[in-house]
Amino acid sequence: MTQNKKSYALPVARTVTDLREIVSGWRKAGLRVGLVPTMGALHAGHISLVDLARQQADRVVVSIFVNPTQFAPNEDFSAYPRIESADAEKLAGHADLIFAPSADEMYPQGFSTTVTVAGVSAPLEGSFRPTHFAGVATVVSKLLLQTLPDVAVFGEKDYQQLMVIRRMVADLNIPVAIVPGPTLRESDGLALSSRNAYLSPEQRAVAAKLNVILRESASSVAQGEDVATVTAEGERRIIEAGFDSVDYLAICDASSLTPFTSGKAGAPARILVAARIGRTRLIDNMPV
Ligand code: PAJ
Repeated sequence: MTQNKKSYALPVARTVTDLREIVSGWRKAGLRVGLVPTMGALHAGHISLVDLARQQADRVVVSIFVNPTQFAPNEDFSAYPRIESADAEKLAGHADLIFAPSADEMYPQGFSTTVTVAGVSAPLEGSFRPTHFAGVATVVSKLLLQTLPDVAVFGEKDYQQLMVIRRMVADLNIPVAIVPGPTLRESDGLALSSRNAYLSPEQRAVAAKLNVILRESASSVAQGEDVATVTAEGERRIIEAGFDSVDYLAICDASSLTPFTSGKAGAPARILVAARIGRTRLIDNMPV
């Protein structure tokens, strides 16, 4: 197997051939396999997904790949933190294998296929990042077909992504169970995110208010308040808290993500937000 020059506590597969060789060995031994796809810069939220995968599988693969196709040209692809040896240390004792392919291994010369998921990809993130979910769906379908895991775990932190992947796996009959993992938060409620590292101390203090406003808005909706009033008021409070702009604050059907635009929300509903401070864009969501 291709090993990294540095020696990590965990084996690292860099090619699909090496990944398949290891996974098929496990499978022949009758072991259940779990996959946790990530872009690295791992934090406790990612590790919680690995531990959840561990509860459902005998061996866990964590993929680390900063996927270029899900970033728009104006987004933070080149600035995205790449700290593989720190990631490997964090995974020791949690995962069994890191799959860290190069961009050429994932997208060799001549690569021509894109997986798009209509409907659930369109609102919210889809209207601000129109090419994002095609990049996610393409890379996740590749990772699933490369690894062929029994289960794959995705965080509710990226709730729309989770719904897009569920739809894709159902539509393409990919034989894997998709397991959602709860959002891990700091003690003040800020959802853990690799992008929190971009925040200055002042911005970090502002960021903490997002989940508070979201929770209060969710409770107003649950009490039957008009969704248009709740979202307008929530957006105003997010700006007042010190955010520079709000991409969306929406109350949506929990599986189709179609936004409710007026009156009482239907059930089950989910509230989702994306807001910007400086150059950092934060997202969060919770059930209503
Ligand atoms: P990334 O942002 O690295 O996230 C990897 C996984 O960790 C995702 O399933 C995400 O929802 C989950 N996650 C992030 N923050 C979390 C938190 N605070 N608590 C629990 N889980 C959390 O999402 C991606 O990478 C990419 O789009 C990927 C699916 C790997 C495709 O490239």
